[in-house]
Amino acid sequence: MAYNLRARDLLKISDFRPDELNYLIDLSIHLKKQNHTGVMTERLKGKSICIMFQKTSTRTRCSFETAAFELGMGCTYLDSSSSQFGKKESVADTAQVLSRFYDGIEFRGFKQSDVEELAKYATVPVWNGLTDESHPTQMIADMMTIKEWFGFLKGIKLVFLGDGRFNMGNSLMVTCAKLGLHYVLCGPKKFWPKKELIDQCKRWCKDSGGTISFTEDKMKAVEGANVIYTDIWVSMGEDFKVWDERIKLMRPFQVDMETMLHAEKTAKLGPIFMHCLPSYHGLDTDVGREVAKQFGKKYPQVKNGELEVTDEVFNSRFSFVFDEAENRLHSIKAIILATIGI
Ligand code: CP
Ligand code: NVA
Repeated sequence: MAYNLRARDLLKISDFRPDELNYLIDLSIHLKKQNHTGVMTERLKGKSICIMFQKTSTRTRCSFETAAFELGMGCTYLDSSSSQFGKKESVADTAQVLSRFYDGIEFRGFKQSDVEELAKYATVPVWNGLTDESHPTQMIADMMTIKEWFGFLKGIKLVFLGDGRFNMGNSLMVTCAKLGLHYVLCGPKKFWPKKELIDQCKRWCKDSGGTISFTEDKMKAVEGANVIYTDIWVSMGEDFKVWDERIKLMRPFQVDMETMLHAEKTAKLGPIFMHCLPSYHGLDTDVGREVAKQFGKKYPQVKNGELEVTDEVFNSRFSFVFDEAENRLHSIKAIILATIGI
C-alpha cells in the first residue's frame, strides 16, 4: 500500500504512525534494490534541498548529498561557520528564506527546539539530521537493516548497551515501542530515559505488542538478543571532561566478544551487532588515542582505545555496521522522495 507523506516533516520518530514508518522502511529496501541493479530514477529532477549542519557529520551529510544527486536534485551544504544561520539570522528568518529557494531542508544541531522552530516557519519539509534528543533518519536505516537480515521487525529483541537518555537511546526506544520490538536498555541507572518518555512508550507498546525494559545486568540483558546495539559514550557537543565519569560508569557495558557469544548461545536468531557510527574501537582516531592516553592507566580496559565496543566485535562476523551505514543513503532517499512527493 502506498502512503501520501507529502509535505510532512520528520522531526522525531513519533511524528509518524507505525504503518507510515513501515512504509518508509519498505520503500528504503525497494530503493536499495533499484540502486544495486542499476536503476536510476531522477524522480525529483529540477528540485533542490538545503542541508544545514551545526555539528560535524560523515554519513548523514553524504547520504543527503548522494540521495539528492541520485534523485536528480541540487543540494546546498551550509555549516554555521559559512552561513548567517545561528549567529546573525534567527531560526525563523532562516526557515522562511530557505523555503523560498529549496524544496526541503535538513538540519543537524544541538537543540530539538531549533529543528522544531525551523519546521514551524518553513513551508517545505524539514528533516531532523540529529539533535541531542533525537536521530530519526538513523532509525529508518536501522530498522531497514534489521528487516533485511531477519525478514521482520515485530518480536525482535534489541538490546541497547549505552546512554539511554541521549539521541540514540531515546530514538531506539521509541522506534521499538512503535514497531513492536522488545527494547532492553542496559546501562547505568543514572542514564536511563525520562519517565514521561518511558510512560509514552509503554502506551505505544500496548498497541504494537512491543516491550521496553531496563537493567544494569549485561549478561542477563543480552540473553536471547537478536540485535546488540551500542553508541559512543560521549556524544558530539559534550565536554571532554565528562569522559572520566563516563568510562567509570559505562565500562561494564562495553560490547565485547563474551557479550556476543553469550547472546548467540541463547538467541534463536542472530545476534547481529549494530552501531550508528562513528565508533571508538581502537587507537586509530584522535579521540580514541587521547582517551587512552589520559585514562588508560586509571581504567586499563580502555588503554587500547576500545571504548563502547572492542575491535574484535566491531570487525567480527556479527558486525553489520557497514550495511547499516550504507542503508543511511537508501533510507534518506526514501524520506526525501516520500515527503517531497513520490
Ligand atoms: N550515524 C551518523 O549520523 O553518522 P554521522 O555523524 O557521520 O552523520
Ligand atoms: N550519540 C551520538 C550519535 C552520532 C550519530 C552523537 O550525538 O554524537
